[in-house]
Amino acid sequence: MRNSGERGPFLIIGGTGKTGRRVADRLRRSGQDIRIAARSAPTRFDWFDEATWEAAVSGAAAVYLVDAQDERAAERMRVFAPFAVKHGVTRLVLLSARGWEDSGDPGMLATENALKGSGADWTILRPTWFMQGFTEDETLCAPVRAGEVRLPSGDGLEPFIDAEDVAEVAAAVLTGEGHQGRTYALSGPRPLSIGEAVAEIAKATGRTVRYTPVSEEEYVAQLVKDGLAVDHAAFLARLFGWIRDGEDAHLSDGVQQVLGRPPRDFTAFARRAAAAGAWND
Ligand SMILES: NC(=O)c1ccc[n+]([C@@H]2O[C@H](COP(=O)([O-])OP(=O)(O)OC[C@H]3O[C@@H](n4cnc5c(N)ncnc54)[C@H](OP(=O)(O)O)[C@@H]3O)[C@@H](O)[C@H]2O)c1
Repeated sequence: MRNSGERGPFLIIGGTGKTGRRVADRLRRSGQDIRIAARSAPTRFDWFDEATWEAAVSGAAAVYLVDAQDERAAERMRVFAPFAVKHGVTRLVLLSARGWEDSGDPGMLATENALKGSGADWTILRPTWFMQGFTEDETLCAPVRAGEVRLPSGDGLEPFIDAEDVAEVAAAVLTGEGHQGRTYALSGPRPLSIGEAVAEIAKATGRTVRYTPVSEEEYVAQLVKDGLAVDHAAFLARLFGWIRDGEDAHLSDGVQQVLGRPPRDFTAFARRAAAAGAWND
């Protein structure tokens, strides 16, 4: 395992988000030196403000990367990855997504390719949908709290993954050996429909929460009425349509490969989140 004294801090870009926060917690608990970077973090890092990059990468040997999350992500990575290598970074671990591979979208795969051409040791993590969408993304969490989840995902199945597993895999890859040049597809242990996931939450909380399938048009109209930009609403509708069409239902064994154990199940997630009051009013 890398030792902070020998190798400098682990830089966690997106370290205030769903996975980055958990990666940072895990590394900190195992005694590693960490540096959390984001626009709102003490180490200010902005993908679109290169003046913030040097202080973030300075002295770091390994970096966890949540990308810029828009259509400029690949271009930003093509600039950032060689910059980081030039400043002494030797290991880059990118949070990607499993759907990218299956959709064959060259624009999305370009971010991964930017990493591969950087000269650093690289590892790519391609998870499915996070269970924590139901607790930490307002567009999903608020409807659960209100008692009705209306989504255009029909009865399609998704093997939701616990963000704790993504973080545990990321921490293992950042600190361990044997993961260089590997791409890990990460899923939860079983595919669930949104209806089944909502039923698990209802059971864990003892509240009435129901799922109502709607069309993509209805969903977009509702989100826009709630104040979301049309483009963002259409993007979310496409993601849920991806689930409806059964494109993402298959399982992947990346958690088992890296951690040597099966991934955490949705029932345990729902119980834990309910006990923590995630869906309380
Ligand atoms: N949600 C899912 O189910 C799912 C599934 C598979 C893959 N993914 C992938 O996961 C990624 C999101 O990761 P996450 O869920 O861990 O994060 P998240 O909870 O979405 O938070 C985003 C993080 O990125 C930072 N950030 C946003 N814009 C930034 C910018 N311009 N410069 C620097 N930092 C910026 C945010 O902090 P500040 O706002 O303070 O900058 C925050 O720390 C996306 O790339 C997505 O494709 C998500």
